[in-house]
Amino acid sequence: MSSSAVAAVNSQGRRLTLRSNGVEREFAALWLRERAPDEATLDKLTGQRLIEAAQLPLDLTITQASVGVDTLQLDFSDGHSTQFTLSELLSDDKPTRQELTDDLQLWDASLDTLPEANFGAALESDAALLAMLDDLRRFGFVRVVGVPCEEDGMQALIDRIGPLRRTNWGGIADVKSVAQAYDLTMTQRGLEPHTDNPYRDPIPGYIWLHCLTNAAEGGDSTLTDGFMAAQRLRQESPEAFECLTQLSPAFRYVDATTHLESEGPLIELDSHGRLARVRYSNRTERMTAYDPDTLERYYAARKRFYQLITSDALTVQLKLSPGEMLIMDNYRLLHGRTAFQLEGGIRHMRQGYVDRDSTASRHQVLRSTIAPQQHATIATPEQGYAL
Ligand code: OGA
Ligand code: ZN
Repeated sequence: MSSSAVAAVNSQGRRLTLRSNGVEREFAALWLRERAPDEATLDKLTGQRLIEAAQLPLDLTITQASVGVDTLQLDFSDGHSTQFTLSELLSDDKPTRQELTDDLQLWDASLDTLPEANFGAALESDAALLAMLDDLRRFGFVRVVGVPCEEDGMQALIDRIGPLRRTNWGGIADVKSVAQAYDLTMTQRGLEPHTDNPYRDPIPGYIWLHCLTNAAEGGDSTLTDGFMAAQRLRQESPEAFECLTQLSPAFRYVDATTHLESEGPLIELDSHGRLARVRYSNRTERMTAYDPDTLERYYAARKRFYQLITSDALTVQLKLSPGEMLIMDNYRLLHGRTAFQLEGGIRHMRQGYVDRDSTASRHQVLRSTIAPQQHATIATPEQGYAL
């Protein structure tokens, strides 16, 4: 790669253009200076920045640039010199105009093989755990079989990934019908597709739903890919899509000892315009009393989104058996259940939440240690920054 690389300094030294194998990228001099991978700029041990980037002169320039074998040597007008690894620089993340991140595979009701993992294997083997987390990332859910049929049977696998998120309901909590329900969860009602707890901040990243018994009539699980529904909405009605990305309803949960409130759009995009998260919780949504025109647009858009997320074409339905568990991405998936009648038997699920950052961190670390050749390499600070 590097032998064909060419570097050109332009805009009076304020920019650097790199051309290599048909790829061209332009870098700002200030960006290159603040990211200089050397010991004077970044701490050798942690990779964290030592210089105060905001104090660099805004008119900083590159005074000299030379390309070697996969290296780029730069001198700056503040007297600093550094050397980049060319291939790393050229593969550094850049802004994109994609609608989705590459590693997601959207699905609908035609998904015939559900992603599946084995509890014992994921517990014992890092490769099996990585495969499970790859599927969770790609599809937004995974069915796990072989979970011990004990109240906290999921805990051992959670411990392999990150801390269990504790809430006002405790750690791993019951999902079953009780006489004094504090939430519709604890009834025999069917639950329409929803994301969990949009009234929390942060919203729980992953839902772990473990089946202990499911003998009642009904009580099937339903799953919908919220990103697929959002994509369909974007295609058929860009205005409705935009409306749902721009208006933020509030969500609220109140009981005798708890008052939780937060807000956010039903479809949220990241800074690059890519789908980042969906929220949908009819139970707890409390739309602000905007002016009627705005609300009419919102209600029409929400109705269309609702029709998509409840449509047979987008819904996968399954019945969890004892010892099975679903892990679901609560920023992407809508999940629900059909109503159940206890005459047939008991239905007892247990549910826990795990945060997004710890799950993503475990995934990244496993990727870089087990399968670095298959995945983008993620250098640890020592590997990335040592001189
Ligand atoms: C819930 C929920 C799933 C189930 O209570 O929010 O999604 O299968 N329950 O009972
Ligand atoms: Zn739920």
